Amino acid sequence: MDKADYLAWAEEAALRAGRFLKENLARPRHISHKGKIDLVTEADPVAERLIVEYLQEKAPDIPILAEEIFKTSPEGLYWLVDPLDGTTNYAHRFPWFGVSIALMEDKKPLVGVIYHPMQGELFKAARGKGAYLNDRPIRVSEVSKPEEALLATGFPYNVHDRPERVVAAFKDFLVRVQGIRRAGAACLDLAYVACGRFDGFWEALLKPWDTAAGVLLVEEAGGRVSNYLGEEYHPFQKHVVASNGGLHPFMLEITAKYLPEE
Ligand code: IPD
Ligand code: CA
Ligand code: CA
Repeated sequence: MDKADYLAWAEEAALRAGRFLKENLARPRHISHKGKIDLVTEADPVAERLIVEYLQEKAPDIPILAEEIFKTSPEGLYWLVDPLDGTTNYAHRFPWFGVSIALMEDKKPLVGVIYHPMQGELFKAARGKGAYLNDRPIRVSEVSKPEEALLATGFPYNVHDRPERVVAAFKDFLVRVQGIRRAGAACLDLAYVACGRFDGFWEALLKPWDTAAGVLLVEEAGGRVSNYLGEEYHPFQKHVVASNGGLHPFMLEITAKYLPEE
């Protein structure tokens, strides 16, 4: 098996789940709570099942670590799956959500696919083979001045209990950059850094399935990814900074002051 097969399977799995999510966005839904503001709709496990069934059929020996149902230990070769990234948006019918699938080897993403069904955009990357949007190569932006930068971020689910550092970091960025977006789907934020629509992204307390595919995309598109301190990032870390590279030192100046509290 080579990376092209894995990539094609991840792509097809993401398309299947994405189509289902798009078709069901307008339907009435039942929302349950994993935490105070951490939601799950009935669409999350269905989308996940579509992905898991397909990947298990294609690669029965590769275990799956998926957000809602399937768990495995993060060792060797395994899939990391977020069937619906942007659940709060989905629950409110705000049409901004993605499907994120990565093939991992230990803590390293080898292949990553992010699908944005409402826009018909499929982002993909394989390590050493570049990053693509709908089969066209993508690159990070060349913006180097903070005042010309459009950044993205998100707020962790514990923000009601621990807002201080999140808000302080947000404020420090806000007064230095051109704009900040909090669109609500971390995988899309990362994909947008990879294709140069955003110049940088930072967020704390994300889960490995939120970032695995996206960080590979950013790296393969020529960008830089680290933790808040500038150290090497892997998707099991608690904080991430992704940028076009040129803005990275500026972003770290701020993030290094605000390591998250659990
Ligand atoms: C969430 C989204 C959001 C981010 C949250 C994530 P979910 O994932 O990526 O943008 O701010 O921290 O947990 O729960 O919608 O899959
Ligand atoms: Ca997620
Ligand atoms: Ca999710």
